Amino acid sequence: MEIITSPTAKEASRLAARYVARLVQQKPHAVLGLATGGTPVMLYQELITLHQEGLDFSQVTTFNLDEYIGLAPDHPCSYRRFMNENLFDHLNIPAECTHLPDGLANDVEAHCQEYEDAIAAAGGLDVQILGVGTDGHIGFNEPTSSLASRTRIKTLTEQTRTDNARFFEHPEQVPIHCVTMGIGTIMDSRRIIMLAFGKQKAEIVKAFVEGPVTAMVPASVLQMHPHVTVFLDDAAASLLSKRDYYDWVYRNKPQWQTIEGKSASTASS
Ligand code: PGA
Repeated sequence: MEIITSPTAKEASRLAARYVARLVQQKPHAVLGLATGGTPVMLYQELITLHQEGLDFSQVTTFNLDEYIGLAPDHPCSYRRFMNENLFDHLNIPAECTHLPDGLANDVEAHCQEYEDAIAAAGGLDVQILGVGTDGHIGFNEPTSSLASRTRIKTLTEQTRTDNARFFEHPEQVPIHCVTMGIGTIMDSRRIIMLAFGKQKAEIVKAFVEGPVTAMVPASVLQMHPHVTVFLDDAAASLLSKRDYYDWVYRNKPQWQTIEGKSASTASS
């Protein structure tokens, strides 16, 4: 795992955006795995700025991690709506190339299989963007999720429903079920970038970066992936015991291995 710390979430998001931009420049038909929540919003703003400066997304395909069951695409709290407002409405990705699970699917199991098949048909994910829940979830894979799981229905924990209540008018409106890519689906992505900001994420960051690999902390499975880059602000990195080492590694990277110089095919973790 490569750990890159920045003084602020904005700076970390800027670096992460450059990582994604470089991939899209090198592979214009890249397949991006996207995330919702508060964490990636600044990254999306940076991508929008880069697009306004000329970065072309016209051949890109996207797949989001998850969607609430029971919310229509135009519901103010649906992840489809979130993605349209925070990213898709501002880039030139053809609408039919942006994919989220359907929260209203009649046959949820069949829909989950179709989602997996669509990712495979697109050639697999080139990079998956992740945030982490305070309980360690990635996507909506809550603690004790199978580390080999595929896209499926999940039941949210009370902790996640409480964390996400800020997006809803009333806490009880947070759905109980969702469709989420599985941990196995996420791990199949060729590259993964994880963002975590703020001191409320410091404990879980320490757990998934430096603790044991365990289904109790689903994000810890990233230790098993060969190409993960974790972008942290100072607050989220504050409990890492090897923080000095991670910063030392990053400062001493050969130029070709830095975000600016990194080639998507040669980077190592
Ligand atoms: P957040 O959520 O970005 O809103 O903190 C992260 C997550 O639940 O994955």
